[in-house]
Amino acid sequence: MPAFSATSPGKIILFGEHAVVYGEPAIAIPVSTAQAKVIVSARIQGKPGEIIIEAPDISLSSSVDQLEPNHPLRAAIQVVIGEEDLKQVPSCTILVTSEIPPSSGLGSSAAISVSLIRAFSAFLGKRLSDEQVSDFAYVVEKIHHGTPSGIDNTVISHQKPVYYRKGDPFEFLEIGEEFSVLVVYSGFPGNTREAVDGVRERWQREPDRYNQIFTRIGDITNKAKRIIGGGDTDRLGDLMNENHELLQEIGVSTTELDRLVLAAREMGALGAKLSGGGLGGHIIALIESENDDISKEMMKKGAKSTQITHVTSRAPYN
Ligand code: MEV
Repeated sequence: MPAFSATSPGKIILFGEHAVVYGEPAIAIPVSTAQAKVIVSARIQGKPGEIIIEAPDISLSSSVDQLEPNHPLRAAIQVVIGEEDLKQVPSCTILVTSEIPPSSGLGSSAAISVSLIRAFSAFLGKRLSDEQVSDFAYVVEKIHHGTPSGIDNTVISHQKPVYYRKGDPFEFLEIGEEFSVLVVYSGFPGNTREAVDGVRERWQREPDRYNQIFTRIGDITNKAKRIIGGGDTDRLGDLMNENHELLQEIGVSTTELDRLVLAAREMGALGAKLSGGGLGGHIIALIESENDDISKEMMKKGAKSTQITHVTSRAPYN
């Protein structure tokens, strides 16, 4: 029996993180320089239902039924099996690897879930649409992050830039003119669950103030959508700066992220902001095509890694 494999990109959020949890729109793009990969191979000698998970990145090697019932990898398998009894499933080994730094705002958990759901359903002979893969991955995202908006599983399972508003059918983003984004890893892990929970607590204490901020972030995202569709993307820089200020106000930036954002702007980026859950992780900066100087300077300022992503209407993105 052949092995079944699936790879998935990570993602960055260009505009709208956190506000998207409260019904505002957000814009995200897939980024494929780092990917998650899952390979499912049959175990000829294995007993029916015996599924072995190998995830060397987290030193995990275990039979699935030894994992906690709400372990995300077990949940991803369970959601594909549905009501079926595990014992009916042919024995297999599932190898999970990922180059996407975890807890960094690049959607590593969703990329692993999407890859696992795709490879494992193919192994079982089930054909899932991108929409079903996304829905299944959302179930696992809830285990990881508590109350996710669903944007990560959507952009990663469809592998195209999206304009997303929770509860509405998402839209593929129209891109009038290519633009370049520098993606900078601070080297400090973030924690999406903690960030989302923290925002929720503060929103409960000061609902009016937070609702106003979310509305302003939603307005920025809608302006950005129009600009991206029409070209003239230099104007996105100011919107990124405004979006970052609002993310600072809701308490998800850090001294280190602010320092990198400021440094990117000082070095000539047209705008910069944190991206994803925050409390660590990545910042992004709008740059003029191959502005390598900014990348080098960011490394001197303590960034752990940098990459340039060209946002176009053509896939794949990197
Ligand atoms: C995480 O990539 C983005 C957040 O808005 C959370 C979510 O949308 O689920 C912080």
